[in-house]
Amino acid sequence: VNPELDLVAEIKKLKKEKNAVILGHYYITGDLQDISDHLGDSLGLARAAADTDAEVIVFLGVHFMGETAKILNPHKKVIIPDLKASCSLAESAPADAFAAFKAQHPDHIVLSYINCTADIKALSDVIVTSSNAVQIVESFPKDQKIIFAPDKNLGNYINNLTGREMVLWDGACIVHEQYSLEKILDLKEEHPDAEFIAHPECERPLLMAADFVGSTTALLRYVEQNNKCNKFIVATESGILHQMQKNAPSKTLIPAPSVDATCGCNDCAFMKLNTMEKLYNALKFEQPEILLTDEQIALSKKPIEKMLEISN
Ligand code: 13P
Ligand code: SF4
Repeated sequence: VNPELDLVAEIKKLKKEKNAVILGHYYITGDLQDISDHLGDSLGLARAAADTDAEVIVFLGVHFMGETAKILNPHKKVIIPDLKASCSLAESAPADAFAAFKAQHPDHIVLSYINCTADIKALSDVIVTSSNAVQIVESFPKDQKIIFAPDKNLGNYINNLTGREMVLWDGACIVHEQYSLEKILDLKEEHPDAEFIAHPECERPLLMAADFVGSTTALLRYVEQNNKCNKFIVATESGILHQMQKNAPSKTLIPAPSVDATCGCNDCAFMKLNTMEKLYNALKFEQPEILLTDEQIALSKKPIEKMLEISN
């Protein structure tokens, strides 16, 4: 890319020319968040993808989110700036191993967290996100046998909250598993006026120590609307701090420390593969494109639509 180019201006121009819409997740960098037409969590962005009239959807997030957009609006061209933007949760569940796991539990229904591939969605009865997982689990009778995949931490959190005994697939998020409880407790001692808030992808001991647990949107809302507390230790991907600070400029936000202070683990390396330059190229050349077969779309659409139906 020519270094003289004003990338933001060029992207805006290309967007108009191509009738494209940019959907951005809260975990991308601040400059990309600011250029997004819709900024949201995975549930909000799935809804935005389903509703858009634009011809081209550019998804600034990770691969499974682009797939979800394609599944919900298959006649649109869906592009993502970097096909390598995966997710450790999606990677933890290969379709054939999961199909075998499912076959071992024939009397169970399958609820899958949206952080999974289209092929896992196709093997699921209902998809959930961190915003609606508890509500969707509770919509089934108490004695309904359930497999929950692929995030064992979110599954465990829901089991503890609802008293269920869902069978859990053994997957986890590499970012949310890195926080150090010991360092967080030290920080709390240093800042007794701070509340500790966490995403349910974190491990159980951390969630037990949290003052509030919620999805990205719930965490944003909690900080924004909290009149009693002005300081928060935040255990979720650091990209969210940009929007949190914008929404609540008077609040002090402290990123929760990871076990290894030098690893930059608070950043999701997959989300951070999105850059302004790659966005420009993706829009200009309309690739890389998310491509799914008609069969993949038909099979994976049902459980996502079921989620949208149940979720309020
Ligand atoms: P949300 O469902 O809160 O957007 O989270 C997505 C994600 O990837 C969390 O790590
Ligand atoms: Fe996946 Fe974790 Fe990155 Fe979210 S933060 S996209 S769950 S690896």
